[in-house]
Amino acid sequence: MKTISTIVDDSRQRLLAQITAQEGRRGVGLDGYFYRSHLVYQQELSSLVFKSWLYAAHCSEIAKSGDFVQFEVGEDAILITRSADGSIRAFMNVCRHRGARVCDAAMGNTKTFVCPYHGWVYNLDGSLRAAREMEVRDGFDTVEYSLRPVRLQVFEGLIFVNCDPDADDFAAPLSNIKIQLGAYGLSDARVAHKHTYRIDANWKLCLENYQECYHCTNAHRAYAKMHSMREPDERVADLKKAVFERAEERTGIKGITNYYRRVYGNAEGFGNCVYASRYALYDGYVTGSEDGLPLAPLMGQFKDYDGGYGDFQLGPMAAMLNYPDHCVLYRFIPRGLTATDMELVWFVKGDAVEGIDYDLEKLTSLWHKTSMEDEYIITRNSEGVNSQFFEPGPYHPEFEETVMCFIDWYLNTLKQATL
Ligand code: FES
Ligand SMILES: [Fe+2]
Repeated sequence: MKTISTIVDDSRQRLLAQITAQEGRRGVGLDGYFYRSHLVYQQELSSLVFKSWLYAAHCSEIAKSGDFVQFEVGEDAILITRSADGSIRAFMNVCRHRGARVCDAAMGNTKTFVCPYHGWVYNLDGSLRAAREMEVRDGFDTVEYSLRPVRLQVFEGLIFVNCDPDADDFAAPLSNIKIQLGAYGLSDARVAHKHTYRIDANWKLCLENYQECYHCTNAHRAYAKMHSMREPDERVADLKKAVFERAEERTGIKGITNYYRRVYGNAEGFGNCVYASRYALYDGYVTGSEDGLPLAPLMGQFKDYDGGYGDFQLGPMAAMLNYPDHCVLYRFIPRGLTATDMELVWFVKGDAVEGIDYDLEKLTSLWHKTSMEDEYIITRNSEGVNSQFFEPGPYHPEFEETVMCFIDWYLNTLKQATL
């Protein structure tokens, strides 16, 4: 990680003053303070990240009893397990004795988690099975020392977790896009590939970058030649109309073009961003491949390509780009003041076989390249906003509208937590 000059003369009062000043500059980017303050970072983790529904894994990754995956967030780690009865649970990977992590592996299969420090043993449901020699302590009861549970909800095979026990329910908001997302049959899909890009930049820069396509024409040549999202809506209205007119008939899915958007300040419950929209690919392209030609068997209910793709948001930090034959999930997770895990997950139909039904390199090529391009521009952005001389400029009213929604919600969240 590149060393940056962080804010050292910091306080709650300074944070509140920065928020107030920023609120008076709506339509202008965040001040460098918000990217450089450790106080801000800590406040973000406790009041925003750990109170939000975050995509953790896909059900197929823990298909069998004893399977587990680990999801690292900030300085923490969450274990997601499949018990013998088939149930899926999540809990913090922090031993209830003296706090060691009870599991190191990113994923695997086990019967129990044995803490490497003093050997306390936990079941797959997080309950404490045994605490060596602790019976000599008066009143010690294993029932009181389960791993701290994390809330969990599954939607279309996608597992979301939330560390806030009082978090608003996420299932009801997500049900609003059941038709559009359900079309891809993600419950029965499988992960063809996933990759974590560690970006040397604050998480907000990564998320802000994802939320606007103003940069696409400039930074993503391969993407821009096939995706119409880089243009203002008005300029591609005819292209979109043509896709929408044929979409239901071609795909066989009624409602595939339905638009739904309740994000950030307008979400149903804290951070419960839910968004679905369909965009047009330029003529001659049917999916997100380098040449625009089919990559894999059609997913879910799709009968044919329609020249469109689905754009989704699921919670405050995850999004999907879904083509008729594969889906790509993006997730942004802070791992330090200037470190972010940008994870990409490529999904294909559950029975698609690598090397026969699809070529993995071709499947991942476009979004791998695009992500590398994003890493380049985001890290350049990080260097600039960390400059002592950075003065934020104005957002584009259409292209950067979602960024502005995010910033409004972000500032309000930070303010409420700091007051
Ligand atoms: S810290 Fe886990 S057993 Fe002691
Ligand atoms: Fe980008």
